[in-house]
Amino acid sequence: MDIRRLTDRLGGLAFGGDYNPEQWDAEVWKQDDELMRRARVNLATVGVFSWALMEPEEGRYEFGWLDAHLDRLHAGGVAVDLATPTASPPPWFTLAHPDALPVGPDGAHLTHGSRDTYCLAAPAYRRAARRIADALAERYGDHPALALWHVHNEYATLCWCDHAAAAFRVWLRARHGSLDALNEAWGTAFWSQRYTAWEQILPPRTSQWHRNPGQALDFSRFWSDETLAAYREQRDAIRAHSDHPVTTNLMLPGYQNLDLWAFGREVDLVAVDHYPTGPGIDAAADTAFGADRARSFGGGAPWLLMEQGTNTVYAGDRTLGKEPGEILRHSLGHIARGSEGALFFQWRQSRAGAEQWHSAMIPHAGPDSRTFREVTAAGEAVARLGELAGSTVRAEVAVLHDSDSWWAMKVDGLPSSELDYHAALRRAHRALWDAGRTVDFAHPEHDLSRYRLVVAPALFLLTDAGAENLRDYVAAGGTLLVQPFSGAVDERLHSRLGGYPAAPLREALGIRVEEYRPLRRDEEVTLSDGSTAVAWSESLRTEGAEALAAYTHGMLAGSPALTRHDFGVGHGWYLSTRLDDSGYAALIGRLLTEAGATPEGPGLPPGVEAVSRHAPDGRGWQVLLNHRAEAVPLPQPGHDLLTDGTVSELPPGGCAVLRAH
Ligand code: GAL
Repeated sequence: MDIRRLTDRLGGLAFGGDYNPEQWDAEVWKQDDELMRRARVNLATVGVFSWALMEPEEGRYEFGWLDAHLDRLHAGGVAVDLATPTASPPPWFTLAHPDALPVGPDGAHLTHGSRDTYCLAAPAYRRAARRIADALAERYGDHPALALWHVHNEYATLCWCDHAAAAFRVWLRARHGSLDALNEAWGTAFWSQRYTAWEQILPPRTSQWHRNPGQALDFSRFWSDETLAAYREQRDAIRAHSDHPVTTNLMLPGYQNLDLWAFGREVDLVAVDHYPTGPGIDAAADTAFGADRARSFGGGAPWLLMEQGTNTVYAGDRTLGKEPGEILRHSLGHIARGSEGALFFQWRQSRAGAEQWHSAMIPHAGPDSRTFREVTAAGEAVARLGELAGSTVRAEVAVLHDSDSWWAMKVDGLPSSELDYHAALRRAHRALWDAGRTVDFAHPEHDLSRYRLVVAPALFLLTDAGAENLRDYVAAGGTLLVQPFSGAVDERLHSRLGGYPAAPLREALGIRVEEYRPLRRDEEVTLSDGSTAVAWSESLRTEGAEALAAYTHGMLAGSPALTRHDFGVGHGWYLSTRLDDSGYAALIGRLLTEAGATPEGPGLPPGVEAVSRHAPDGRGWQVLLNHRAEAVPLPQPGHDLLTDGTVSELPPGGCAVLRAH
């Protein structure tokens, strides 16, 4: 589906957010109309949590109230992203279908009283979800306010109930074909776990000690596929009545219950929610991480930031506020990386209910507030960027991401609790971001030929096809960095025998790992080049590679820690430990130089972010974000779309969007 249709409809990039008017009355709705105009809102997500109003009792729909809101928004020039409300079933639903409530791995039955209280595999839930998607699409399929369909909200829930067990068995039959194949895949010869009938197989519920890792990995895969099937059912029900694009808002990066590559293929445009998990420069880096992921899952196509907070930074046990200027900088951070707009959760801060302390575009204090003034300024800025619609982002560097590896690194019985897939990915991305490069994420089996450098921070599970792809990438001239504990198992979680990593990758790296040796907690080792490392070490020998740094102490004294291999016309690098921050940054810097990956904003100091968008007709734009507290002169003055004037300097915390020549 051509996504330009959405931005053409909006007359530029999208700006707005979740709109939950059912929390307010007519007086407030009138103010909303006027304030949305002031803030240049052109897209409102409606209906996300409105199931109880839309269907007050089973099978009886009431849409009159929704008609009124859609008509009102349309009259005010605000298009609607209409959501199916299936992420929050009303109490009548769970009372009528108690078997559709979720059950935890320990057998605990959850109750209603929050949201997401359903099992996606429960037939009653699936029927109800399809039915309401169908009813909404039938009624609003060509409503003039409609611009986009928003299925559900942040699919991510898992369940271990008997419905899930039944669906899991169906999935397992399709994947493995026979019980013999399943037994072989899961290694049930060990611990007397052999299954002799499909009915004996359960979800990996709480058990005495380690759960079977193959069972756990397959359960993760099953839930991703089951969730995708639930999405497809709603999407197809909508498509039967409407030809507007359909999407679902994918969850912030720390959750990984879905194979986001697979979702990226099924949505008309990728939409994500993003809430930074640290303040200041960390929030900016986190924004880039989330945005680069979103763009990559859609194959580089334009995507949409569906939710962010105006004043929300999740920092462990508290929610911090944003600093002045960050609403715009974070919005532009997403737009720079290919988002077709910037939307928020939510328009007006709830005065009661579960998220009354979550920030919004209009805070409790009302429109006479810093937040609303910054929202309005951001709305004006986004309105000036219409010409960027449909343009895309190019990256010379890729970080490999694969949900199988992520899930596999969560199974019981791994050699160290310090193996953290997500942290390894973020660290690699952060080092590249600090070095001023734009990064794509890629799957190990993707065509990687357009990247000068590929980093594999945590490729624990690697298929034969993936290993061959990486070998061929290096042979053809690529530079590849593989980090510890990679290529250790195949897609069935079976260990690679005869030395790690998988043979084709060993060939490209010119090494053979014989033994993994996790370090003690707080143990630090020194390498021969003076850098230090923690958490992990490996006993390896070179088979053609050059050793660039070696361990200096203990059993591994003298054995290589960092290697480089000339293979074909490319270079395969292997790092067998976790370097300290400066050592890792230096390594990434060296690789970028060797690979010839150019910085996005040469001449700009650290803390100034530069990303370019390119249109197919040759036009281009450079988005510049100054995360520093002082003004920064630009290497070259340029025409800034935000001010419609020439800029030669970025003020502290300032932004510019320059037309490229
Ligand atoms: C998102 C969710 C929203 C709202 C928001 C703020 O993850 O989709 O509905 O809950 O977080 O917490």
